[in-house]
Order: sequence, then C-alpha cells, then structure tokens
Amino acid sequence: MAVITDKKNINVTTLNKEEKQVSAKSVVYNTKDLNLWYGDDHALKNINLSIYENEVTAIIGPSGCGKSTFIKTLNRMVELIPVVRISGDIRYRESSILEKSYKVEALRTRVGMVFQKPNPFPKSIYDNIAYGPKIHGIKDKKILDEIVERSLRGAAIWDEVKDRLKENAYGLSGGQQQRLCIARCLAIEPDVILMDEPTSALDPISTLKVEELIQDLKKDYSIIIVTHNMQQAARISDKTAFFLNGEVVEFDETDKIFANPNDKRTEDYITGRFG
Ligand SMILES: Nc1ncnc2c1ncn2[C@@H]1O[C@H](COP(=O)(O)OP(=O)(O)OP(=O)(O)O)[C@@H](O)[C@H]1O
Ligand SMILES: [Mg+2]
Repeated sequence: MAVITDKKNINVTTLNKEEKQVSAKSVVYNTKDLNLWYGDDHALKNINLSIYENEVTAIIGPSGCGKSTFIKTLNRMVELIPVVRISGDIRYRESSILEKSYKVEALRTRVGMVFQKPNPFPKSIYDNIAYGPKIHGIKDKKILDEIVERSLRGAAIWDEVKDRLKENAYGLSGGQQQRLCIARCLAIEPDVILMDEPTSALDPISTLKVEELIQDLKKDYSIIIVTHNMQQAARISDKTAFFLNGEVVEFDETDKIFANPNDKRTEDYITGRFG
C-alpha cells in the first residue's frame, strides 16, 4: 500500500515539474473575451487564448469559422475593414494593443504576416528583402547585403537565389516565392510570424520545405499558422486551437487534440466527419 502511495506521489511530483516547465514559457499573446463583428455578423465570440513563445500554434476549423479574422486581429489588420467592431482585450507582450494610444506601426514591426498566396513585390529578389529595412532607415549597402543574405538563409532559399538576386521575384516558382515572402518577413526581425494557410497553394515538396522551415524558425520566433491540413497541424504545431462558428471549441497541446480531444465536435472535425 505504502509503495503504491509513494509511486503515486512520485508521479504527481513529476507531473507538477512538467507543468511548471510548460507554464514557465512566456506568453506572447493573450486574448480575453475577444469579440468581433462585421456589421451584424458576429465573427469572433469570446475568444480566450494564450500564445506561447517559441511555439507553433495551429488554428484549425471549417471555412468561415473566423481563423483569418482571428489572426488579422492580432496585428490589427482587420480594423482596416470599416464595418468591423471589436470588444475585449488583446495583450501582446503585456500591452493592450486595442487601446487607442497603442502605436500600431510598432506592432507591425514586431509581428510579420505571410499570406495564403505568395505576394512578392514586383521588384528584384534583393529589393523584396531590403524594402522593409530601408523603410526603417537602413541605407548602408553593406548592412543591407548582410540582412538580405541572413533573411534568405533563414528562409532556406539562399542557395536557390544567391546568383540571381537582381532578377525579378516573379520569376521564382510558387514555393520559392512563398519562402521569399517568409524571408521578407524575417528581414524586419519580427517577434511573431502569423501565417494564413501558407502552403495551400504549394506542391507537396514545397510544402514540406516550408513545414521544415517553420519547425526551424520556432527556435527564434513564435508562429501562429492557420491550416486546413490536419496532418500539417499535427506534424508541425505544439498547440492547436479548434475554431467553430467564431468560437474556440478546444485549445490544447496538439498531441492531445489529435489523440484524445475533449469535445466531440473536435473529434468529428479532425476525423473528417464535417468541415
Ligand atoms: N471583409 C469582411 N466583411 C464582412 N464579413 C467578413 C469579412 N471577412 C470575413 N467575413 C465573415 O467573417 C466570418 C469569418 O471569416 P474568415 O475569413 O475569418 O473565416 P476563415 O475561418 O478564415 O475561413 P476560410 O477557411 O474559408 O479562409 C465569415 O462569416 C465571413 O463571411
Ligand atoms: Mg481564412
């Protein structure tokens, strides 16, 4: 009897230690009772989520459930749409970003975004990357050269483009363009990278490259990725949030969500019964 109790105690102690390690990670974003309306359409309903540093957080859910709206709220891009109304709180690194006094320009230099369709500028490969740093006042050619190389290496595309930096970015394949856009994002040295279905327009090989890249980037960045690809979410994310009709049905460790979800609706979605 005593042995069993001891064993139990040991297990509990171990668990607590692990839990402490998890909770010791810094929270990058925290949303509290976040609601968003497009006119009368209630698109986000009481979202309470924490996004942790150096993790990949996947956002999954059927079309129209609010995934893009949610990530566009995190960099305040969504408010460019005139009918949008937001309530609740979003904290980024402890600051309430929805407050009027918060400088949205500062947020945009800390939070980069990669879209579903690669959207390089109609400029050279070099200028695509140097554009952001130039806007931030960097003029020195040597420094810009360094940033361009570092960013392209960071996005695992340097070897493919190093001999054609002056060529137009439109000459790259779709998969290369998407990695170029990730490199463009890295050039501004962000803290967080938001990705909205970044591989949905790519072939399987390019998809794999971008997935490997995301795994690598989480050492230095916190990544939030919207995906319709369940295998992708399971492969590359640490945590997964399942959205449905503007609500977060379940948010947990990815392994838990895919192996043993708490909610029947999560199970139905990940097993392909709807969505
Ligand atoms: N600009 C807009 N104006 C009005 N309603 C919008 C706008 N953008 C999105 N919505 C509505 O908000 C809801 C959520 O849309 P959102 O684009 O966030 O979904 P999603 O989960 O990203 O879908 P998908 O998987 O198809 O990309 C939908 O009902 C959509 O019609
Ligand atoms: Mg979307």
